[in-house]
Amino acid sequence: MATNERNQAVETLRWRNHCLEMIDQRVLPARFEYLAYHSAVEVAEGIRTMVVRGAPAIGCAAAYGVALEALRLGGASSGEFSRGMDRAFEVLAASRPTAVNLFWALKRMRALWEGLKGLALGEIAGRLLAEAHEVLAEDIRINRAMGALGAVLLPDGARVLTHCNAGALATAGHGTALGVIRSAVEAGKRIAVIADETRPFLQGARLTAWEMVQEKIPVTLITDNMAGYMMNCGEVDAVVVGTDRVAANGDVANKIGTYMVAVLARRHGIPFYVACPLSTIDRNIADGAAIPIEERAAEEVTGFRECQWAAPGVSVRNPAFDVTPAELVSCLITEKGLVHQPNRERIAALFSD
Ligand code: MRU
Repeated sequence: MATNERNQAVETLRWRNHCLEMIDQRVLPARFEYLAYHSAVEVAEGIRTMVVRGAPAIGCAAAYGVALEALRLGGASSGEFSRGMDRAFEVLAASRPTAVNLFWALKRMRALWEGLKGLALGEIAGRLLAEAHEVLAEDIRINRAMGALGAVLLPDGARVLTHCNAGALATAGHGTALGVIRSAVEAGKRIAVIADETRPFLQGARLTAWEMVQEKIPVTLITDNMAGYMMNCGEVDAVVVGTDRVAANGDVANKIGTYMVAVLARRHGIPFYVACPLSTIDRNIADGAAIPIEERAAEEVTGFRECQWAAPGVSVRNPAFDVTPAELVSCLITEKGLVHQPNRERIAALFSD
């Protein structure tokens, strides 16, 4: 697959013609198309409806949402501008609850904006846009750093199971969990990926499998309920997943089904690795019990798109994430280093200098 000047195969988000363009991840892999976004409200809707998804990508999109709103309000009075910006932060913060990168990016953009108050509106908008570009570029650098550190954990010939999509599509590029796999492959290792389908939104079947096929990294797709069988047959050497929020004690929120995979990995003595940029660690949350878990629409469980197969009227639960206790995590892979057997002290040490 062709790459751009940043050596990226996939540009999940890009700035083009004065607006944000995002790959519509709802329709991949059947269609590869970009949608254009011009305001915070539009970007919030793009996040809510999962045009863009994956914790770091959501953070990048939110940063651009703030910048777009500042650009859009360029002709307003300073009072209208301030009120409009407050509304933008609110609408973006309400788009999805679990991935902390959203709130991390909004906090960063708000801190910048507050430091710029009093400047000409055009100047403020320009600085916010430059910051959004920096959030995006930084994400790729961090993913590459995590990739290089995490690749060391994967032996040549490893068969690596992953859940959901923590790839280029979930980030500004390279990916977190798939970034570790990509970096291992770039280092010359032969890696074979086992992709959990990831019901109900099918991020594994639709997105991870697509990314790997594009790059000719061997990938085998399984349904979620096959993971235990594969492990029991000795066909999985390691698990690598991403995360939406890590609590101060190392508990890991990630796509629903991750906990099940972690329990199975422990049962079979298989290392369970979590690729986790520091922006995904929420030190304000003591443990996983306090992580807000998004509940999504029943229609995602009763069928897929137009095809609804469950009995009408059946009661449904659809939590989009679960929490894996820190004790099941072999190692957190961060851009600042590997944290083996993560706990409160080891996580605090990441932030000590
Ligand atoms: O609901 P999604 O698709 O946004 O969930 C994504 C995940 O759970 C990813 O594993 C996580 O955000 C890490 S992405 C680098």
